[in-house]
Amino acid sequence: MKIGIIGGTGFYEMKGEEIEIETKHGKILAYYFEKHDREIFFISRHGREHVPAHAVNYYGNMEAMKKIGVEAIIATSTVGSMRKEIKVGSFFIPYDFIDFTKRKSTFYDDVAIHVDMTFPFCPVIRKILIENSLKIGETKEGIYAVTEGPRLETKAEINMLRNFAHAVGMTLSPEVVLAKEAGICYASLCIVSNYASGMQEKLDAQEIKKVYEEKREDVMKIIDETISKIPESRECGCKNAPESGKL
Ligand code: HPA
Repeated sequence: MKIGIIGGTGFYEMKGEEIEIETKHGKILAYYFEKHDREIFFISRHGREHVPAHAVNYYGNMEAMKKIGVEAIIATSTVGSMRKEIKVGSFFIPYDFIDFTKRKSTFYDDVAIHVDMTFPFCPVIRKILIENSLKIGETKEGIYAVTEGPRLETKAEINMLRNFAHAVGMTLSPEVVLAKEAGICYASLCIVSNYASGMQEKLDAQEIKKVYEEKREDVMKIIDETISKIPESRECGCKNAPESGKL
């Protein structure tokens, strides 16, 4: 099985062969290498130049993964914690999300496909990620609120969002939706880089990136272990999502 990794802020390249994938949404740069007898493709979500969350080429990145034949994606990103008990420097693995962005989130403009999002993430990969993440550090599960960015949230927004979600970030949607529409298994490993607006004195983008960079090795260990454990055959049903969504 071919496995994809989508790297978040502070995670722009990996050792491997650089390949360019042509998509309808432009050329996408990926790094190819082999690990645990698996073919791995790494794409930096924000690109080498780091475009902000609202300008990420989500469609190109996911189309590239599909085109290469990737069947499972491990995505990483940073999030802000909206709960004291979800600590900075710990891991957060979402089981659900609420999309507060204004972005389009479908590949299907001309056909009516309504993918089921009752379980947005692949249950098999999520379980493996949680097991491996717990071995490395404190790990919590929860709901991810997706905001548009690039600005950070106001205190009032966080006070509202924390009623519905545990962590806040800018990139999960449309990525998770596009993976579902592409029939690719997808799970997300988030690094808690800060407490959300109003919970710490001020928010500093450099600080957010620094926490991610400090955790990079741990993230790599978790991904490495996860890659070795993803089963070859897909019993989870993720690949049927687009077909089941047809009207
Ligand atoms: N808000 C939104 N996105 C983020 C945050 C935050 O506090 N931290 C890291 N990504």
